[in-house]
Amino acid sequence: MAMESKFIWMNGEMVPFEKATLHFLTPALHYGAAVFEGIRAYNTEKGPAVFRLKDHAERLLDSARVFGFRELPWDVGQITAAIKQTVKVNGFKDCYIRPLVYLDGGGWNLNVDFGKPSLAIAVWEWTNYLGDEALAKGIRANISSFTRHHPNVMMTKAKIAGNYANSILAKTESQRLGFDEAILLDPQGYVAECTGENLFLVRGGKIITPSTAPVLEGITRHSILTIANDLGYEVLEQPVSRDQLYIADEVFVCGTAAECIGLSEIDFRKIGDGMTGPITRAIQHVFHDAIRGKLAQYDNWLAYVEETAIIKQQVSLKAS
Ligand SMILES: Cc1ncc(COP(=O)(O)O)c(C=O)c1O
Repeated sequence: MAMESKFIWMNGEMVPFEKATLHFLTPALHYGAAVFEGIRAYNTEKGPAVFRLKDHAERLLDSARVFGFRELPWDVGQITAAIKQTVKVNGFKDCYIRPLVYLDGGGWNLNVDFGKPSLAIAVWEWTNYLGDEALAKGIRANISSFTRHHPNVMMTKAKIAGNYANSILAKTESQRLGFDEAILLDPQGYVAECTGENLFLVRGGKIITPSTAPVLEGITRHSILTIANDLGYEVLEQPVSRDQLYIADEVFVCGTAAECIGLSEIDFRKIGDGMTGPITRAIQHVFHDAIRGKLAQYDNWLAYVEETAIIKQQVSLKAS
């Protein structure tokens, strides 16, 4: 995966890619003391547009609040402007965007109040996170031997860098076993989420997903729930057991990196007919059109990077 770009935004400066380095003694590196976002920009007829930018910037600040950072010097408006500027200056049309608020100087005594927060934003061209075949064929997953965080051990509403050691343990194990992705159960034994995706099942035409208490409140999850409702499906948020997945007609996962992908097999059990199912495909289809600005009803999910596109969007919002 090529992660190069021309510039990385660091504390308000556009720093050339090769100079965007940190000191070995940055506490974030040693303790996972950072919060981050994963965002995508997609090329549209009006140029690149960042998907649900404001929601991601708000979640970044929420993650920082959950972690305990106080009085950050950036607000949602400054973060969204910096992200647009970083996409623009790098000239990317389709890209992944990674803002990170990290504990910089100080904080060695494990107290966030003794450190200084820094913000950096990188962008890179990244297409299929789960591989080229995933969209058509679906992926294979297993139930991980690792449990998802207890919500009073780690903070599941926050994208705290340190939380992701749990994801790395699970994903490494699953891929070494020959699967593509891991499904983690919560401390009560119910299905939680994957290493970087929320999970849905379809049974008897109804769509079911675990409620958000033990998992990340995924922005793609919210988009999929909106699309599913708009398509007229009944959607239930309720506890899901491992064997409910085995007997589901369809299972799919969604997240910014993975987008919306069907699961063909879980724990060596074929899901449905082992192909991406019809309801997953219907939702995928609308989602892909929405992110590329092809559906007016979801245009408010897009933040256009080019000035002229922003003016056009304001005019069309006023007219509608
Ligand atoms: C643990 C976890 N769950 C779910 C998601 C999906 O969230 P989103 O759709 O906001 O990317 C992610 C990715 O951010 C994640 O890391």
